[in-house]
Amino acid sequence: MKRVDDFRLKFGRRELVPLIIGGMGVDISTAELALEVARLGGIGHISDAMVQDVSDRRFDTEFVKEKTKFYKHNIDNSDKSVVQFDLGRLAEATKLHVGRTMEAKRGEGMIFINCMEKLTMNAPRETLQVRLNSALDAGIDGITLSAGLHLGSFALMAEHPRFRDAKLGIIVSSVRALQLFLRKTARLNRLPDFVVIEGPLAGGHLGFGMDWAQYDLATIVAEVAQYLQTEKLDIPLIPAGGIFTGTDAVEFLERGAAAVQVATRFTVAKECGLPDKVKQEYFKASEEDIVVNGVSPTGYPMRMLRNTPAIGAGIRPNCEAYGYLLDGAGNCAYITAYNQQIALHPDGKNISVVDKTCLCTHMRNYNCWTCGSTTNRLKDTTRRLSDGSYQVLSAEHIFRDYQFSVDHQILLPN
Ligand SMILES: Cc1cc2nc3c(=O)[nH]c(=O)nc-3n(C[C@H](O)[C@H](O)[C@H](O)COP(=O)(O)O)c2cc1C
Repeated sequence: MKRVDDFRLKFGRRELVPLIIGGMGVDISTAELALEVARLGGIGHISDAMVQDVSDRRFDTEFVKEKTKFYKHNIDNSDKSVVQFDLGRLAEATKLHVGRTMEAKRGEGMIFINCMEKLTMNAPRETLQVRLNSALDAGIDGITLSAGLHLGSFALMAEHPRFRDAKLGIIVSSVRALQLFLRKTARLNRLPDFVVIEGPLAGGHLGFGMDWAQYDLATIVAEVAQYLQTEKLDIPLIPAGGIFTGTDAVEFLERGAAAVQVATRFTVAKECGLPDKVKQEYFKASEEDIVVNGVSPTGYPMRMLRNTPAIGAGIRPNCEAYGYLLDGAGNCAYITAYNQQIALHPDGKNISVVDKTCLCTHMRNYNCWTCGSTTNRLKDTTRRLSDGSYQVLSAEHIFRDYQFSVDHQILLPN
């Protein structure tokens, strides 16, 4: 019976444990978690979601305070189109987050950064260009493009000296999305180094409509593999979404996947950024507590716990401080939904906005409990303590369980 450890992900001359811990913004997949995974020989992700806030928390910088001060005059204005990022400061924050993480890296594994295209930041092209190139400047091993089709993203990095040596890949949820991406990037003569295929059971935003339940990861992986074979393209494929045991992973590896990407099991790791109280909510969750809804202003469905405090909250938009979801015209679907409620309740008191949520603020405060579809099984991966709470695990314990387990067994902690 095979184990994950019987396989290796080959990147040039490097050989890695074929386990990738997916990016989880905002600072849920922390540098600490990514560093631990790299030490163990796999690939860990940090994320550049709300990177200025992450930098402030990690390094005591004042990017958010500074931006808020600069746009203070606009706080009561429902029109947020003036609120923009200073590209120099954005580069600085990205380089700090990435650079300090890479300096601390030990071991044979790698650290990638997850870059979501949907963080449009009121200047989609310019901000993405800064984010991608600053991460390369700061020595990131690889970039995973996500939450969007990224048709122009490779071109935004094409002049960077590391464009051909850093590992660059994309997350897709259909063969169609990959075809579009490859067609658009063909003229750059640079294939992605890996493609993560994310199925409908993943956490975070889903690359499907509300009909997500009709799709199946193994089927999409087979379709993508068939397409690449027809086109005679050799790109490592990395399935993601609902891979809960080492044996689940082996099933994909035996069928030709280069590695698997996982996340949910690591949400309850000590090194994961969620506060302990929230980790307990993940442990406690039952199947009925896990929902897919449309409250994210990005327009993508998102999976989360039903008791997520962000759902129905009616806070004032915080774009002067954050503003990561402002589109190219300075709009965000939450602002629209909020303004509709304000029009109905001009005193602004006891407002509840049900259709959309202020994702920046709630993700930043760990009040949007996005999760994968297997979250209800986390309680089976640990022990219950005498006070009724569940024991938080080390990332090493979870990683090694994936790496060495057979027969769908899950090793409980000591
Ligand atoms: C809490 C949480 C947050 C996530 N945030 C992001 C994100 O910011 N960007 C992204 O591309 N994927 C995100 N994901 C998706 C994961 O990176 C990963 O591909 C997926 O969840 C793997 O499936 P699994 O959780 O069933 O193992 C998130 C997943 C979780 C559980």
